[in-house]
Amino acid sequence: MTDLTFVSTNPGKFREVEAVLRPYGIRTRWTRRSLPEPQVETLEEVVDAKLDAVRDLKGWVLVEDSGLFIPSLKGFPGVYSAHFLKIWKFGPIYELLARRDRRAYFRTVAGVAHGRRRWTFVGEVRGSIAPKPKGRHGFGYDPIFVPAGWDRTFAEVPAASKNAISHRARAVAKVGEAFARGRLAR
Ligand code: IMP
Repeated sequence: MTDLTFVSTNPGKFREVEAVLRPYGIRTRWTRRSLPEPQVETLEEVVDAKLDAVRDLKGWVLVEDSGLFIPSLKGFPGVYSAHFLKIWKFGPIYELLARRDRRAYFRTVAGVAHGRRRWTFVGEVRGSIAPKPKGRHGFGYDPIFVPAGWDRTFAEVPAASKNAISHRARAVAKVGEAFARGRLAR
C-alpha cells in the first residue's frame, strides 16, 4: 500500500482523486491547504508553483490544477478558470458563446513530488458547453459541460460516471499507472 498526500482546498477534487487511486493500491490522504495560483500562462507553471509550496510535506505528495478551455474564446477561461468563476459565474460565458462555437475541453495537470523529484501527468476530456446549466452533482463548471457523446452535463451524473472519463480521472489514473509500473522511483 502506498500512501500519498493530496493537497487542495477542494473536497470534490479529493473525492475524485481518492476513488481513482484506490484500485491502484494507493491510499490518499487529504491535506487541506490553500496553494498559490499565480497568474501565469499554463497549468504546468501553476502546478510547479503549487509543488514549491508543499516542499515541507514528507513522502509522496500530489497536487493538481485544472481549467476549462474554450477554443472559440482563444482558450478562455483556461488557467483563469477559478478566478473567472468566482467573480462572474456562468453568465458571461453564455453571452460570449451566443454566436460562437461551443466546443470546450477540460484539462488537468497533476504533479507528484517526493523530496526534490517531480513528475507531471496530463488528462483531458473534450465536449461542449451545454445549452443551459443543469445538474447538482460535482462542482465548478460541471453544470455547463457536456462531454462528447453524452447528452447530459457532468453535474447531472453520479461521481462514478464523471470519474470514468474526466480530465482529472485521466491525469490521476496515469499517476496510478506510473506507481503500478514502478516508474516513480524515489
Ligand atoms: P483549479 O484547478 O482549482 O484552479 O480549478 C480551476 C477552476 O475550474 C475552478 O473554478 C474549479 O472549480 C473548476 N474546475 C476544476 N476542475 C473541475 C471539474 O472537474 N469540473 C468542473 N469544474 C472544475
